[in-house]
Amino acid sequence: MIKKKKLYYPSSDFKKNAWVKSKETYKKAKKDPVKFWEGLAKEVYWRKKWKKAFEHKPPFFKWFLGGKLNFSENCLDKNIETKKNKVALIWEPEPSDERPRYFTYYDLYRKVNKLANGLKKMGVKKGDRVGIYLPMIPEAVIAMLACTRIGAVHSVVFSAYSPQALQVRLQDTEEKILITADGYYRGGKIIDLKKNADEGVKDTKVKKLVVVKRAGNKVNMKKGRDVWWDDTISKEDDFCKPEVMDSEDPLFVLYTSGSTGKPKGIVHTCGGYTTQAKFTGKWIFDIKENDIFWSMSDIGWITGHTYSVYSPLLNGTTCIIFEGAPNWPVPDRWCQIIEKYAVNIFYTAPTAIRMFQKYGDDLVKKHDLSSLKVLGSVGEPIDKGSWLWYFEKVGNKKCPIVDTWWQTETGGILLSSLPGVGPIKPTFAGLPFPGIKFDILNNNGKSCKSGEKGDLVILPPFSPGLLRGVYKNTKRYKKTYWSEYGDEVYFTSDIAHKDKNGLIRIVGRSDDMIKVAGHRISTGEMEDTVSKIPSILECAVIGIPDEIKGEVPAVFEVLKGNWKKIEDLVVVEIKKGIGPIALPKKIYVVNDLPKTRSGKIMRRILRKIFTNEDLGDLSTLANPESVEELKKTLK
Ligand code: WT7
Repeated sequence: MIKKKKLYYPSSDFKKNAWVKSKETYKKAKKDPVKFWEGLAKEVYWRKKWKKAFEHKPPFFKWFLGGKLNFSENCLDKNIETKKNKVALIWEPEPSDERPRYFTYYDLYRKVNKLANGLKKMGVKKGDRVGIYLPMIPEAVIAMLACTRIGAVHSVVFSAYSPQALQVRLQDTEEKILITADGYYRGGKIIDLKKNADEGVKDTKVKKLVVVKRAGNKVNMKKGRDVWWDDTISKEDDFCKPEVMDSEDPLFVLYTSGSTGKPKGIVHTCGGYTTQAKFTGKWIFDIKENDIFWSMSDIGWITGHTYSVYSPLLNGTTCIIFEGAPNWPVPDRWCQIIEKYAVNIFYTAPTAIRMFQKYGDDLVKKHDLSSLKVLGSVGEPIDKGSWLWYFEKVGNKKCPIVDTWWQTETGGILLSSLPGVGPIKPTFAGLPFPGIKFDILNNNGKSCKSGEKGDLVILPPFSPGLLRGVYKNTKRYKKTYWSEYGDEVYFTSDIAHKDKNGLIRIVGRSDDMIKVAGHRISTGEMEDTVSKIPSILECAVIGIPDEIKGEVPAVFEVLKGNWKKIEDLVVVEIKKGIGPIALPKKIYVVNDLPKTRSGKIMRRILRKIFTNEDLGDLSTLANPESVEELKKTLK
């Protein structure tokens, strides 16, 4: 990398071999974004070409209308034609003494086809939803791909989510089948996943559980309902005819937190998602055919879908999935993995980078990380210190860092400088991906000047992979994304500003969402959960700064009468309702919470009291005296 003033540019060596090396691509895309995306879509394998590239009936839009394709065919069959025996997937188990598993494209193909046949035999048809509640094991990838082969819509639920969180999702999408495992390793312990699954399927429509044997822990198999994964696939044929899907048929649903308590089922479709996943990965990480790609994200998140698995496979490369925690059993486990497999592209979140940095440089120096070519960051803003550490100590000043902005809703990265073009500026995500039109709007709905903060929005034709809906909830789709600036402007809920070069920097969210270790958590959902405790009269949850995780939740609660051990109850309830990722760092019992006259709790004020900021005008509060009291409590 070459540094010029505050900006970084690719070295001539890097540039020479990069997929995209000049601003020309941006110019061409800007001139006619639809035509530009059509050009990329031509490199996807279609059973039938589309008739019309883009249609916009606000707030709805479609891409590649009339096109027909199958997703698994693009990930597997197409690669088998030229690289049947190339390794597609490497699985690194958490226990260091256990052997990794390697899957060639052909191995993966056969397993996927077998499971697809097995699922069909269980009655799964095109359009049916299938739940996947699996840890980071190869079967998770096989299960996802098998669904796409037969046109079933997968809904992956993060394996560390609680049974209750699983249940809410299953109830919404009404799965009849759930694929899960006996258990898995995390931090040296076996997590009893099957027990959570058993609890989570209560009061849902799930009739069958397919269970992968992973940890060998003892589980109860319910007769007539539960079947082992191996028995499901062992007798099945190696080939299952791929279901030919319409470009706009749903490919998968993935839940994410929303402002209200209930999570939203984000719907992604076949044609647009495939095109976008393939090319955003290829260009942003500069994926080459023989690259080893390691994205640390769990498949329970959108990053785990698009970049831990799908984009590397669509590009015919090799991806690594890792079962465990990156700092277990030693803090430099992540370095060991990079060294062991000679990883070329490494993708993680600022939270992890801050944690690695805290362990000290010596651990990193112990390892040969020279295979690395491109480093990625995702999920939350990255601070300058962490950026520099990542750049200098991990990438040895030679790897471009792509700070990639996107959302569960966008399905793929839409904002990030391209490593072969640059410029790259620490703490700035960078330029919109070619063919994407962003704007930053102020309170009057006008474009902000450089340096001025405002709402980040996306303008038509949006992107081929942007969500097509909230599962069975058009009202929420319209309200959340298409009402702030009218139905032709996609509202991201992020605040941003740009510099005079047009590089965009994300400041944070404008809604009640917080980012804990890069994971989106809704303070509303937490409040709903905590409010279930009978002794709690009312509560508010805010995000407070944390050295490693960026932000962590703090709970403020007003009690009915006097209660002991309320903190323990809160912890139990959050674990039960959401899962350990949402555990609060601080719990405050207070007498009153600042409210507007209409009774709305002012989380903004709470946050400001916490960080000692100027509180501004308090005259709109119904109970300004609560503020003084809170200040005392927080001292
Ligand atoms: C929100 C989306 C995208 C995959 C992981 C998170 C924040 C995401 C960045 C970044 C600053 C970022 C935004 C966004 N975010 N990437 N590079 N810099 N903030 O997906 O859970 O849907 O969260 O994460 O606030 O809206 P998600």
